[in-house]
Amino acid sequence: MTEGPPRPRLLLVGGGTGLVGRHIVAEFGRDWHIVSLHRHPSPGEAAAGVEFVSGDACTVADWAPLLRGVDLVVNVAWYRTGSLRRFRPLTEGLLRLVAAADRVGVPRFVHISVPDSPASLETNLPYMALKRRIDRAVEQSGLSYAIVRPTMLFAPRDKLVTVMLRTMNRYHRFPMFEDGNYHMSPIAAADLARIVRLEAARADRRNVMVGGPRRWKYRDLTDAMFQALGLPPKYFPLSGRGAVRLTWLLEHLGSTLLYVYEVEWLLSDMLGLPPYEGLEQPLLPVEPFLAEEAARLRGTRRAGRG
Ligand SMILES: NC(=O)c1ccc[n+]([C@@H]2O[C@H](COP(=O)([O-])OP(=O)(O)OC[C@H]3O[C@@H](n4cnc5c(N)ncnc54)[C@H](OP(=O)(O)O)[C@@H]3O)[C@@H](O)[C@H]2O)c1
Repeated sequence: MTEGPPRPRLLLVGGGTGLVGRHIVAEFGRDWHIVSLHRHPSPGEAAAGVEFVSGDACTVADWAPLLRGVDLVVNVAWYRTGSLRRFRPLTEGLLRLVAAADRVGVPRFVHISVPDSPASLETNLPYMALKRRIDRAVEQSGLSYAIVRPTMLFAPRDKLVTVMLRTMNRYHRFPMFEDGNYHMSPIAAADLARIVRLEAARADRRNVMVGGPRRWKYRDLTDAMFQALGLPPKYFPLSGRGAVRLTWLLEHLGSTLLYVYEVEWLLSDMLGLPPYEGLEQPLLPVEPFLAEEAARLRGTRRAGRG
């Protein structure tokens, strides 16, 4: 067997098991050697020939050995929720990563961040405020970098669109916060991975917002979800305050369905980002995904009824 030219080396921090990481592995696995550091082994990564480094980004004291010979770092590690106490060690670990990448001269650094949010969240919410500390450290470093800031992602096993569909399918009703006239522009996780590839190939220092192909009015999107399920759209209306109260209660009962900050972010109408420009092929629309997921759910329901 002839060996091809050596593959460029990618250090994926926080990959493998997560939504974005899975798609980065699928996108880069063909022609990159991926070293993936995270906590839980992933069968998908093993099947794709990824070199798994079992580790917690919080506790990596010296990143330099992991960065040796690395052409590109992609950081996806983050938690969806938690206190300052939870986020601080991860933040410090990731700040050490940025400093080490800068010191050893990693050629390119792609950091996955999040869109702008209301000022109160930017200041007070550990999820957001500490994410911004990492964003700023990347910007203030000497690295060649892209900070990629996608809005809501969709893909099989995502934690938002598929959960919304499942809820509608089960209860035939869905909460509608206020009038639903705020916006979302969902983007496929597979498109995000293609965007990361494109951003990885650039040589500038930039911060880029990433929206999907269509800026939906939220209520039109939820109507489209009901339609995909073959159900008439039915809502139980909630005021903004009511929505926050309900989510707070769910959160405190241990639900991971939706968090208060996500409701506040949605209602702030800051998530309808314009479409990312630059990919060769068009961004994937959400409708075929809704149809596929809905068909899967309806199949499951029939099978469940035996
Ligand atoms: N999902 C979205 O809609 C969305 C939208 C905008 C931006 N983002 C951003 O995209 C990134 C990835 O999000 P995601 O939805 O893919 O998250 P996810 O599904 O929760 O995955 C997070 C990944 O990070 C790893 N991880 C978490 N803590 C770690 C630690 N301490 N050390 C090492 N690895 C750790 C996890 O793997 P292990 O459990 O194996 O460690 C997992 O693979 C995040 O930065 C998020 O803010 C996501």
